[in-house]
Amino acid sequence: MCGIVGYVGKQNAVPVLISGLQSLEYRGYDSAGVAVLEENSIGIRKTKGKVDNLRNLLLNEPVSGNIGIGHTRWATHGAPSDMNAHPHFSNDDSIAVVHNGIIENYQELKDELEKKGYEFYSETDTETVAHLIHYFYKQGNDLLEAVRKTLERIEGSYALGVLCTDYPDQLIAARKESPLIVGLGKGENFIASDIPAILNYTKDAYILGDKELAVIKSDDVKLYDIKGNEIEREVYTYKWDVEAAQKNGYEHFMLKEIYEQPKVVKDNLSKRFSEDGKSIELDGIKLGKKELENINQIYIVACGTAYYAGLIGKYLLERIVRIPVNADVASEFRYKDPLIDEKTLVMVISQSGETADTHSALKLAKSKGARVLGVVNAVGSSIARDADDVLYTLAGFEIAVASTKAFSAQVVAMYLITLHIAQELGKIDEKEFAEIKKAMDNLPSQINDILNKAVLKIRGFVDKYIESKNVFYIGRGLDYVVGMEGSLKLKEIAYLHSEPYAAGELKHGPIALIEEATLVVGVVTQEALFDKTKSNIKEVKARGAKVLAIAMEGNSSIEDVADDVIYIPRTHWMLTSLLANIPQQLFAYYMALGLGEDIDKPRNLAKSVTVE
Ligand code: AGP
Repeated sequence: MCGIVGYVGKQNAVPVLISGLQSLEYRGYDSAGVAVLEENSIGIRKTKGKVDNLRNLLLNEPVSGNIGIGHTRWATHGAPSDMNAHPHFSNDDSIAVVHNGIIENYQELKDELEKKGYEFYSETDTETVAHLIHYFYKQGNDLLEAVRKTLERIEGSYALGVLCTDYPDQLIAARKESPLIVGLGKGENFIASDIPAILNYTKDAYILGDKELAVIKSDDVKLYDIKGNEIEREVYTYKWDVEAAQKNGYEHFMLKEIYEQPKVVKDNLSKRFSEDGKSIELDGIKLGKKELENINQIYIVACGTAYYAGLIGKYLLERIVRIPVNADVASEFRYKDPLIDEKTLVMVISQSGETADTHSALKLAKSKGARVLGVVNAVGSSIARDADDVLYTLAGFEIAVASTKAFSAQVVAMYLITLHIAQELGKIDEKEFAEIKKAMDNLPSQINDILNKAVLKIRGFVDKYIESKNVFYIGRGLDYVVGMEGSLKLKEIAYLHSEPYAAGELKHGPIALIEEATLVVGVVTQEALFDKTKSNIKEVKARGAKVLAIAMEGNSSIEDVADDVIYIPRTHWMLTSLLANIPQQLFAYYMALGLGEDIDKPRNLAKSVTVE
């Protein structure tokens, strides 16, 4: 939930840390700081606000040195403030720590340390780590051992970077349930919460595992387990390039990522069909007839946007495969003692692969004997590592907090998984499969088409809707689900109150909220349900609503009831959600732009939610 970066080498660490932190701002941006080893002391600069504030602070009060750690924060313990910003340091300023995660037993540790005479200055849980390391260091004069002993006392999650004045040539890193990689350069090495932070310098890294530590020097990296045994790790080479982490001329990452969707969908499709196009190949995942016949239900678990992609999967699997599918948000699933066993296939979906609730849901599912299929974007992430099988969504970096291209890739994954299971279980014939495949092949160019046409239309009518205070998304079936995603996007980046409703449910209560000029987005791409939803639109129109409809080409009678219509190209019924969501993304984007909001870094949010 926070971003960490660290550097050991020959350059001045500060610019490396600042550019790294800037690439990690998607993980949190309410305060930032750096600690740099100077001659015989640690120079710490930290401040409330974004990394730009820190950059300005450093211009007035510079620090320099060849080893340093940096942090950009999403507050959990203690409000965003200068004092609560990381790094935190020991009372004698000899040890500095940056931390991402939550120390659950921090109060107990704090009480203990206060009794030993340690003074606390911040409201954070992290400060206990700095004092505890100091305490153990004073016992044995061995920094690695002191960090290791500290980790044994800590309950919760952590990615840590530690500096000590007595060790002017190294920094120590450790992780448990919060991501951390050790970047490997030539004569310089790094730590980072995520690869974009260090892509300017290297693509090679060790991905640290849970309860592992690293001692990082400019020319040497050693990895240890929590018991202090040295361990080996293969170097992982990231395939993404620097441009992937830059805006490339777009005003916001979100817009860039929206425009990357034709390629993302194409990449996902081109790699997942057999050469003759007659079957699906899911990265060698062993979910064949035998395994699938042993499964009597599917459970889909995820958070936020990933959950909505999962709901699309639920609708499709139930309708096409005729297997019972449950779907839950991970934060509910993990505490409800779900009805799953070894005959359940649990599908967890996550862009980051680090979402704490989803990861815990995965572990719970495994402990109950279920087989877990991870649908994950971030290679080597915790969820990808712990799932029994992984289908990567090949969306590339997604930097904007509001997920767009990762959602599309997840939806394509739902299409592929549904078709694969249907085929293995004989629930779809060759003809229908071929028909859907043909429609899928058209998706990239159809998305392009929507991007080209809808953008002008949406920009043209955004002014008309910008004053809206409440927005309702209505639809039936898959249109209802895709409306959930549209509504979330509008909340996240335009800060508009918006709610998705099953169109047929309106009359059971929510319609009471419709008044003169309330904006209703009607998603009507499911032709079998077109007339039904059109009637519901008429009902809200009759009560004064303004209606923006998203419909499939050829269904122009929707213009009788809607104020504005955006058409998506004609496609197979199971694929409409992917297309219908593109105008929704653009609408949220241009509404937020019109309202002057910080689109890539919406308030109170962070990209990767690694705390509960
Ligand atoms: C999407 O726009 C959101 N920022 C959020 O709902 C996100 O999808 C959710 O936190 C899940 O993240 P994950 O896919 O990385 O697990």
